Amino acid sequence: MRDINQFTITEAVKKTFKTEPGSRFEQLLRGFIDHLHDYTRENNVTHAEWMGILNFLYDCGQISTPERHEFILLSDVIGFSALVDMINTKGGATEGSNLGPFYLDNAPRMKLGGNLSDGREGVSVLVHGRVTDSLHNPLPGAIVDTWQADASGTYPIQEQEQGQDKYDLRGVFEADEQGRYYYTTVLPKPYTVPYDGPVGRLLRAGNRHAWRAAHLHYIVRAPGMSSITTEIFFDNTEYLDNDAVFGVRKSLIAKLGPASKVDELGYSLERKPDAVCKFDFVLAPEG
Ligand code: BEZ
Ligand code: FE
Repeated sequence: MRDINQFTITEAVKKTFKTEPGSRFEQLLRGFIDHLHDYTRENNVTHAEWMGILNFLYDCGQISTPERHEFILLSDVIGFSALVDMINTKGGATEGSNLGPFYLDNAPRMKLGGNLSDGREGVSVLVHGRVTDSLHNPLPGAIVDTWQADASGTYPIQEQEQGQDKYDLRGVFEADEQGRYYYTTVLPKPYTVPYDGPVGRLLRAGNRHAWRAAHLHYIVRAPGMSSITTEIFFDNTEYLDNDAVFGVRKSLIAKLGPASKVDELGYSLERKPDAVCKFDFVLAPEG
């Protein structure tokens, strides 16, 4: 390895890894080295730039805590997370979108028709629809796990020090025998992703804002089907065309309608809604 130069180093580095031939690990590692070396050669990366990149990653590590994963945020704002979501969306299924950092396991089980936003201010909205397979067959018993920000764009988990319950504005619903889910909640507002760290610096350096279009988060699962992680956006919200983490897809934008015809739906609801949002989730078979 003495006769090494900027054109032979890539193969030399790859050869030093004794990975299982043909394995996925080998493929991902080799591809990463290929692309990183190509990028470095193509851009004639200087020492100062190289150290700038490494210091940026160091800063991401320094600010990360169990509650704040700056590398996920970095992945989000450069479209890496969205690309992985897009590649892994199954044909015929609802498109995937950001998990985001605020998901909590074991959110409270809620009854269909329940109200997720007990005592909270804001526009009350009925969110409803069906969970089906791609042939529109209902998936009774499907689990609809949801979490969201409040009417000021804050997740209660962000305000635990101010006495908020971290499980507020979260709930797990079980679809009925027709695959239907329905509940009321408050309309969330747009909010900013955290921008007080290195990722914020990156956004400012690129003259970008940190706002996300208002959305509801979901994980939907049913036996024998691939679960989906996705978001619903509202057609009247800001930032649909420039969501900071590239989460919006046309198919995930739901129309927000008046609640005038809500009685015709025949749901028994805990709270009277001011608006209605309908969204059907489609799951693809596992495998
Ligand atoms: C969210 O949707 O909750 C989120 C996504 C990316 C960064 C921060 C928050
Ligand atoms: Fe969110």
